[in-house]
Amino acid sequence: MTKPPLTLYLAAPRGFCAGVDRAIKIVEMALEKWGAPVYVRHEIVHNKYVVDGLRDKGAVFVEELDECPPDRPVIFSAHGVPKAVPEKAAAREMVFVDATCPLVSKVHIEAARHSENGLQMIMIGHAGHPETIGTMGQLPEGEVLLVETPEDVATVEVRDPEKLAFVTQTTLSLDDTAEIVAALKARFPAIVGPHKEDICYATTNRQEAVKAMAPDCDALLVVGAPNSSNSKRLVEVGARSGCRYSQLVQRAADIDWRSLEGIASIGLTAGASAPDVLIEEVIDAFRDRYDVSVETVTTAEEDVEFKVPRVLRQPA
Ligand code: F3S
Repeated sequence: MTKPPLTLYLAAPRGFCAGVDRAIKIVEMALEKWGAPVYVRHEIVHNKYVVDGLRDKGAVFVEELDECPPDRPVIFSAHGVPKAVPEKAAAREMVFVDATCPLVSKVHIEAARHSENGLQMIMIGHAGHPETIGTMGQLPEGEVLLVETPEDVATVEVRDPEKLAFVTQTTLSLDDTAEIVAALKARFPAIVGPHKEDICYATTNRQEAVKAMAPDCDALLVVGAPNSSNSKRLVEVGARSGCRYSQLVQRAADIDWRSLEGIASIGLTAGASAPDVLIEEVIDAFRDRYDVSVETVTTAEEDVEFKVPRVLRQPA
């Protein structure tokens, strides 16, 4: 049977960012250095395939430090942790390695610096996301106010409108965040913040690539996990940029083929924590059903690399 033709637009950049790559390397190197088990507080990155692979090698994933025995190394996930977590690990004399992405650590430092300068902090982020919890947890409880929407900005109660600063989660929607920042600046003209916002290069580049290809795509698939903030934002960006159908899939088995009936083109991208092998799997699933021609849509080149912490570069 002849397969129908399909143009598959492949976003570039897509998938792994430098922070995710580093976090995975940290767990692998810790396992090599100290042997199994190595404990990891929270999913090292939000991807089941990655987490399952590391679990097979001897990583044990827990949600809280109390679940780790004090005599085994523990790694903190790429999303960052409240300040109290490394402090508690140090108090228990545990060996710990912080896999917080350096771009998240930068936001932690910004928040602490503004606070030291007497400014009250506002964080733009999603309630309950580990990165938001980690960044807000750089300061004592109640010190950082969270806003998620422009409506929140209208009602947030601050100590002194003249002494305010804001930081953002790194994986937000560029457009939504711009609206929230504009609302903050309109209500609190003296507010201090980063030049644009703290959204990282990887989030920005993946969203820009989707924006560029979405108008040409009948549908968009984003490979990523349901708890991955940057992946969910890519689905939203696709929908807003003109794709009539935009879906998040963890793997090829999740594809809702009925929703794709009649398409002649599809856009494919992946969140920053989704490995290439899953993208290949999705492309193969399309090849099984369609006569696929792949066109890569490149909107940026990435060459960012982060070093792993020194403790892992030193011999055991
Ligand atoms: Fe870091 Fe951005 Fe990736 S903050 S972990 S480079 S999505």
